[in-house]
Amino acid sequence: HRDLTGIGHLERHEILFLLAEAEQWVELNRQPSKHCDELAGLTIINAFFENSTRTLLSFEIAGKRLGADVVNMHAAQSSVKKGETLIDTAITLNAMRADAIVIRHGSSGAVDLIASKVDCPVLNAGDGQHEHPTQALLDALALRHALEDRGEGSEDFTGLTVTICGDILHSRVARSNVLCLQALGASVRLCAPPALMPAGVEAIGAQPFHDFDAALDGADVAMMLRLQSERMSGQFIPSAREYHHLYGLTRERLERCAPDALVMHPGPMNRGVEIDSEVADMLDRSIITRQVEMGVAIRMACLDVLTRKARGVPGWNDGQWV
Ligand code: CP
Repeated sequence: HRDLTGIGHLERHEILFLLAEAEQWVELNRQPSKHCDELAGLTIINAFFENSTRTLLSFEIAGKRLGADVVNMHAAQSSVKKGETLIDTAITLNAMRADAIVIRHGSSGAVDLIASKVDCPVLNAGDGQHEHPTQALLDALALRHALEDRGEGSEDFTGLTVTICGDILHSRVARSNVLCLQALGASVRLCAPPALMPAGVEAIGAQPFHDFDAALDGADVAMMLRLQSERMSGQFIPSAREYHHLYGLTRERLERCAPDALVMHPGPMNRGVEIDSEVADMLDRSIITRQVEMGVAIRMACLDVLTRKARGVPGWNDGQWV
């Protein structure tokens, strides 16, 4: 079987394939009846060792809309609290004969570890500071739809400049998005306070900035990220007020971008810190709720494609491209 542990493991054509596969689910999700039996009889386990609203619920909804049996394991209520190791937890889930396991974990590498211990496809729903691949895929799908609505749609993002601003150091969303956006032809600028910018982002093709105004200059998309205070240890943590002053996306700052630039945020948002409410809620510019909508379709596509081998359906796992 094949896992989805990171955008870094995908070829450009595989990213485009997953985006194309998601379109049928965007359509289904807009119908009054959203159910199909594609994954009937399959069992999907969502094992979340960290909190989540969007990712957990959208994976659950995705599995159910595809007709699978979906069960959620919340680490806080599990035997992890009694000292069970990650490997023993993985072996336990495997013994229950899940057909796909979706993992969110606070430690980078935990998803790969679990993937190496189980017999079914594993989907990374966010692992530490490493990757959040379905977030980058849903961001790409939301961006593509927003551009199509403006008559600017194309298969990829060649010529587009995307500024990602926030706590880049701790952000798995930033990492997956840099890889995904660049694979699709976009130029990516990364902006953060010096203490929250990882070293060597130039090596992966991104342009680093500490000055937010300069980073926004002429950008087509401003993607804002929150400060992940739960992952900070020893770094300088700016106060919310100070951070907003230097790095908050205000209506005035948005004017520095290209005309009609789009605003994105993976959520959860801290309104008034990294983004002002009036910007987050701009109907003609903000695609934040569209990102959430696309999250269900992308997760349906990933669950469908990754379980094709087990279901005997040609697709990604067999190297056969539709
Ligand atoms: N964007 C995202 O991963 O949100 P959740 O933490 O709510 O899942």
